Amino acid sequence: MSNLDSWRTMTAAQQPDWPDRSELEKVVAELGGLPPLVFAGECDQLKDQLAAVVRGEAFVLQGGDCAETFAGATADNVRNKLKTLLQMAIVLTYAAKVPVVKIGRVAGQFAKPRSKGTEVRAGVELPAYRGDMVNGFEFTAESRRPDPWRLLRAYHSSAVTLNLARAFTKGGYADLRQVHAWNQDFVAESPAGRRYEQLAREIDQALAFMHACGADPEEFHTVEFYSSHEALILDYDRALTRVDSRTGLPYDVSAHMVWIGERTRQLDGAHVEFFSRIRNPIGVKLGPTTTPEEALALIDKLNPDNEAGRLTFITRMGASKIREHLPTLVEKVTASGAKVAWICDPMHGNTWETPSGHKTRRLDDVLDEVAGFFEVHRALGTHPGGIHIEFTGDDVTECVGGGQEIVEGDLALRYETACDPRLNRSQSLDLAFRVAELYRSA
Ligand code: PEP
Ligand code: CO
Repeated sequence: MSNLDSWRTMTAAQQPDWPDRSELEKVVAELGGLPPLVFAGECDQLKDQLAAVVRGEAFVLQGGDCAETFAGATADNVRNKLKTLLQMAIVLTYAAKVPVVKIGRVAGQFAKPRSKGTEVRAGVELPAYRGDMVNGFEFTAESRRPDPWRLLRAYHSSAVTLNLARAFTKGGYADLRQVHAWNQDFVAESPAGRRYEQLAREIDQALAFMHACGADPEEFHTVEFYSSHEALILDYDRALTRVDSRTGLPYDVSAHMVWIGERTRQLDGAHVEFFSRIRNPIGVKLGPTTTPEEALALIDKLNPDNEAGRLTFITRMGASKIREHLPTLVEKVTASGAKVAWICDPMHGNTWETPSGHKTRRLDDVLDEVAGFFEVHRALGTHPGGIHIEFTGDDVTECVGGGQEIVEGDLALRYETACDPRLNRSQSLDLAFRVAELYRSA
């Protein structure tokens, strides 16, 4: 058995119960022959940028849908998500004066861990929805049956999305002269949109000045954009792992960065084992029950050479817990000399359900967890390295609060997520301005 298959003898949490293994094997064989979605050299480039984050010289903005869907791989949808990411990034770059590493939860974020394996509606029990890569969202026995051919659709959908993302970011849309064009429709009229417009005017002035001076660097016309997802379904990510011809080392070429979720980070589990064998930059989600010993053991296993940029800890404690749980973790990891980037996921520790049955999050809780993250790192003298969020570019009503003042009663209006509630573009901009303030007030 090759090293890349050593995980197969271990327990892999959260895997689908495929009804027909021989179908799965056919799909995996087909995936194994398909071209890479990203190149190993690009993964290394991202690793270098994350090393700058470890050194305190850059900030990560990672985000996108909780769960992408096949139906959502449209030009409008991808453009709106990128637009949101670009707007947030420009707020951070301009207002906080920090280089921003832009990573999408896109082009592969098709599989979801679930707290319960089944879902019951009106007395009917069916397998839980595990993401479009596994089964269908519709609540019927047929749709909920895991179908391995969906792995192949996930690959093609990722390819389409990544193609659009590369075209938008390299083909003129991400040009800084477009800063105003990103601020359209419902967002332009929100308080954050108006604040953004002011900032965009200042950027215009600065660009005009630079241009008059004869400076027109390439960085003003295109941006570096990276893809990432939770590598949950190991058969998929293993099938897309290739040995890099330059270095002879294996990379998961389904995305630039992959992460291990809170529910699959067992030290003796298959996910940690698989991740220890690939050379991509990787993340691990750390919830409020994580002990410093666990964090140190994860470092030993996943980054034994202490390479900066290889390992990012994505903490997701909850607003009410972060100030209590994060300090010891950061302190002990720092004292060990380990080089890791710390980024804050202020979403997954702040989810609750309304009486109407909508899973939601308060923007105030999200902002409070981010504030706690900055407080802890500032107090310890460590670098608050970035944020990891769930957002969409569309005018949805899934999270409450923000400049548009969305309240619980509004949630039913446009509640469109296939999994967790996402910030809409206006709320995402609210967040970006707040993060820029926190960053600046160091
Ligand atoms: C997620 O990122 O959508 C997720 C499930 O997060 P976590 O593993 O932190 O719960
Ligand atoms: Co989520």
